[in-house]
Parts: sequence; C-alpha cells; structure tokens
Amino acid sequence: LRLFSGSANAELAQLVARYLGLAPGPLVRKSFADGEVYVQIQESIRGCDVYLIQPTCAPVNDHLMEMLILIDACRRASARQITAVIPYYGYARADRKTAGRESITAKLVANLITAAGVDRVLAMDLHSAQIQAYFDIPLDHVYGSPVLLQYIKDRQLEDIVIVSPDVGGVSRARAFAKKLDDAPLAFVDKRRQAHNEVEVMNLVGDVHGKTAILVDDMIDTAGTISEAARVLLERGAREVYACATHPVFSANAIERLSDGTFTEVIVTNTIPVAPERRFPQLRILSVA
Ligand code: R5P
Repeated sequence: LRLFSGSANAELAQLVARYLGLAPGPLVRKSFADGEVYVQIQESIRGCDVYLIQPTCAPVNDHLMEMLILIDACRRASARQITAVIPYYGYARADRKTAGRESITAKLVANLITAAGVDRVLAMDLHSAQIQAYFDIPLDHVYGSPVLLQYIKDRQLEDIVIVSPDVGGVSRARAFAKKLDDAPLAFVDKRRQAHNEVEVMNLVGDVHGKTAILVDDMIDTAGTISEAARVLLERGAREVYACATHPVFSANAIERLSDGTFTEVIVTNTIPVAPERRFPQLRILSVA
C-alpha cells in the first residue's frame, strides 16, 4: 500500500499516513512558467495499491488538474490499483442544469477522473449524494458527521435545535438531529416573490431561547450561514453555532464568521485553513 499527497492538503495526508504507520510517498511537483504542471513519483509503485489524497479545493482547476496528472503518472507506472481520495469534491454544486445550455460540471469532473485511470474513489460529504452515480467505478462515500457529532455531544449543550440554513439541506440536518437524541429541527426558507423584490427569510420551527446549531455541508462565502444566523438571532435564539464539513472559506467568509454572530464555527480539515485566516471561534476537527 502506498499513499501520495497532492499539494492541496499535505497536512491531512500526513495525518492519514500516521494512522496507517506510513509516510506519504516521495514525489516531485513543479509548475512551468506557463502554468503547466509536472509530477513525478519518486519510487517504484509497480503492482502497488496506491492512494492519492487530493481535495479539489481552491484553486480548484489547478488541484483538479494536478490530481488527473498524478493518476495518469501512477497508471503509467503500473500501479495495481489506484484510489483517488477526494475529501472535498470541487464543482459538486454544478450537479444539474438549472437553466438551458449549462454544463453539469460535477459529471464532467467525474468523467475526467475516471478517464485518467482511477479504479476507485473515496469522497467525503459530496454536496449531493447523486454524484456517486456520476461514476461507473466503485465510490465510497463517507461522512464528516461522526466527528462533528462527537464534538457537539462533548460540549454538552442544553436546549439545542438543529437548523438547516436552506431547504436543500433539511435531510442532512434531520439526520444530524436524529443522532443528537432526536433534537428538534428548524430550517430557513429563503423566498423571492418576484425578480425585483428583496428576499424574505422565513423560519420554520421554534428557536426561541434555544442554542441553535446550523448544519451545512460547506461554508463557502459564508453568505448562506450568516444570513440564517441573523434570522435565528432575530427570532430569539440564545446563541448560534455553525457546523460544516468543508471550510471552503472564499471571498469575505472569514470576516462574516468572526464578527461575533457565532459562538463557534466547527469545521473539519478536508480543506486546509491557513493559520493567519483562523479566528478565535473556529474549531477544526480532524477527519484523518
Ligand atoms: C448550498 O446548497 C450549500 O449547501 C451551501 O449552503 C452553500 O454552497 C454555501 O455557500 P455560501 O457559504 O457561499 O453561502
């Protein structure tokens, strides 16, 4: 068994390797002046069972291309089996057409990964479970929730309500609530009556006087989760926690998450968060 890390999350790869009593295998990665990527595996992997760890987080296109090149290098080096471990699957939100003449990029990415020569994929908290079906090779879909749930249980919070920040995330939040002694559930329903009208945020469920725990798969710009938190506080929630597997944290996410709205922001290490971007309310749990 050999494990190699792309450049997207070397820290997670180190932690996984430590669990296995291994070290990530040696490889050289270079970028040419024009941006092209070069990769060379620096040991024989002939006949080996190879695991490549690479979340396709920002810069998404670079990390995706690097993963494809790594897979190709392993295939051409006669690995017996290649598994792409993709803790965060970029482009997952482009999983359907919402208007004419769009791409279903999540499917395109699955095609590219398969065509590069991978035998198996291990992914965590795909934005939508249907993405599993975009692959015609085995895909193991694992979840960050056991780690997040354990943290919440250890906090021994009282009078909690689990909240989905949007209608699309209700089943995820419901599954989360079930594992917390069937905690009550609420969700935010964002509606725009007409194109030129402002959005109305309706809250379904009771959060008054409760500790609200917002659950989502990812926090990207933090727009969704901070708007939801604002509604919860307006409706009398005592405090608000944010809980998500993937800390995408783009644009002004850090400012939004650290402005005092949230008691804690709990995420996992599927995507690295640079030390200078961490803030006091942030908790990063390991899914290694
Ligand atoms: C949406 O369906 C997702 O589950 C997340 O709620 C969303 O992508 C988060 O994005 P942002 O943080 O930019 O609002």
